[in-house]
Amino acid sequence: MRNIEATLPCLMRFLTLTIKCMVSNSFSLAFVFLYNCIICSIFHIHHWCNSLRATIVSSFFSPVGVVGDYKEGYYIGVDVAENDPESKKPFNGPNVWPADGVLPGWRQTMEKFHHEALEVGKAVSRIIALALDLEVDFFDKPEVLGNPIATLRLLHYEDQFSDPAKGIYGAGAHSDFGFITLLATDDVMGLQICKDKDAKPQIWEYVTPIKGAFIVNLGDMLERWSNCMFKSTLHRVLGNGQDRYSIAYFVEPNHDCLVECLPTCKTEKSPPKFPPIRCSTYLSQRYKDTHADLSVYDKHQA
Ligand code: OGA
Ligand code: NI
Repeated sequence: MRNIEATLPCLMRFLTLTIKCMVSNSFSLAFVFLYNCIICSIFHIHHWCNSLRATIVSSFFSPVGVVGDYKEGYYIGVDVAENDPESKKPFNGPNVWPADGVLPGWRQTMEKFHHEALEVGKAVSRIIALALDLEVDFFDKPEVLGNPIATLRLLHYEDQFSDPAKGIYGAGAHSDFGFITLLATDDVMGLQICKDKDAKPQIWEYVTPIKGAFIVNLGDMLERWSNCMFKSTLHRVLGNGQDRYSIAYFVEPNHDCLVECLPTCKTEKSPPKFPPIRCSTYLSQRYKDTHADLSVYDKHQA
């Protein structure tokens, strides 16, 4: 509003001078003042519109006090060729790779990582099955993890300092949507977990990186599947002024896998809390609910 307040006295001054000149029959001078008056209004109205637009955009599209995450990433999914009918399913499609000759061998390394990390994910799923009194291969079978939605994210956090009080995070507090996440990090501290999501105030603890080890995060889909026997891991990333790199590998079941309260996680006293849902429906819904519709920015630019 500062600009409109600045505009009015300025316009009034030019208009008064214009009228005075017209009264005194000095029309050329009146024209100069009128011209200045129009230019001045255009200038101020232009600035005022910009500031109003900025206010509208920031108040409608950013939650109060949240400036946003500054993490950036390169995402690699399960590679499905465009002419394969499977590519029409959500989360499927051809990956975007650097042009031939750029980073020789990099694509092969990433594909090998993707492939082998899935085997680690399946091994962890066997431990989870045992912990839930299920058959050891409950998750590690073709109908569940045979054709998984698995995504590799190569993440970079630039050398900023996070400031939770100002809503500036490498990655704000969240739990991952899916089944499990395998996380490999460099040795720059940054990842924090909150063991009790409902505690007030929440207590955040750093996770010390261990060379050669994966951190395993349990996702919201596992929480739902296990009728909340397992809680998903609430976590966030704070920057400490150093560049930080991590690799997150998200393991989600097949598109059509039915996520339905596990047989060992319900009793008469504790019936299923959630209805059954297909894996890809659940994930699509979660992404839709939490990611801004970026087309609103295009509309504002137009
Ligand atoms: C994520 C995430 C943590 C990290 O990508 O969901 O929580 O250490 N990453 O980069
Ligand atoms: Ni995460």
